[in-house]
Amino acid sequence: MKQNNLEKKIRKLKEKRRAIILAHNYQLPEVQDIADFLGDSLELSKKAAQVDAKVIVFCGVHFMAETASILCPDKKVIMPDITAGCPMAKMITAKKLRRLKTTYPEATVVGYVNTSAEVKAELDYCCTSTNALAVMEALRDRSQIIFIPDKYLAHYVSQKIHKKLIVWDGYCPTHIKILPQDIKREKKLHPKSEIIVHPECLPEVIEMADAVLSTSKMCQYVKSSKAKEFIVATEVGIIYRLKKENPNKEFYPATERAICPNMKKITQEKILWALEELKEEVKVKEEIRIRAIRPIENMFKVI
Ligand code: 13P
Ligand code: SF4
Repeated sequence: MKQNNLEKKIRKLKEKRRAIILAHNYQLPEVQDIADFLGDSLELSKKAAQVDAKVIVFCGVHFMAETASILCPDKKVIMPDITAGCPMAKMITAKKLRRLKTTYPEATVVGYVNTSAEVKAELDYCCTSTNALAVMEALRDRSQIIFIPDKYLAHYVSQKIHKKLIVWDGYCPTHIKILPQDIKREKKLHPKSEIIVHPECLPEVIEMADAVLSTSKMCQYVKSSKAKEFIVATEVGIIYRLKKENPNKEFYPATERAICPNMKKITQEKILWALEELKEEVKVKEEIRIRAIRPIENMFKVI
């Protein structure tokens, strides 16, 4: 593939800095094209910890870069746009969670990876959209479970494991834009399509799914499925990767309105500036980091 000037400069500087570019599956095509590795939230942090690099250029939202910093404190994690945050992660704070914990002192506390490092420091277990069900199945026998912050992910796992949870009132403003009528309309237009849905979607949308999957699991699923067409109920940025990896298959976004504006803040220009100035660094304070890594380690122990 032909590289533009900007891409050439980024690749050269990346080598000089011993840097690696990680990008979430929702990033703009120009960012996906320059990335060394694409993935979902946890895959990217795990990759950050594994790679032999001094600098991690994290193209995603803030909690993802923080998770990378928690897992690899020896590397410099920088974000090309530090203002790219996740509104769902901001719906709960450590203080609010501590208050909830005093109401339910016996409860096991499970938190979605879409949370700040301070909130992770208050958790017993972390989970991701890939493993939420497996983590919750492993904890099914606990007398009480608090699940934060996504009430729709909580609803999905609660139904699957047949257990009532203590739920926080958080949600993803992007995924709730996908409505059952969008799926119905697209299915009418493309009747042979399989419907793949992210678990952050509304329960009515999840009910219509052929498969409920995290972003990277969607990428794996479409490769192995016999279907040739897919209705994709998640942020629209993933369609670029799906199409690139499966040129003979067709992908229809459930709705073009499902855009995460924070995921679109990062551009090739900003990646170049970040590499030039080695900024903005995302660094979790050590006293928070050692508490925040525990629920992540606990998650790996039970799945
Ligand atoms: P994934 O971990 O499935 O990539 O989800 C992250 C996210 O923020 C979805 O909105
Ligand atoms: Fe957060 Fe939703 Fe954007 Fe994912 S799509 S980063 S959950 S706001």
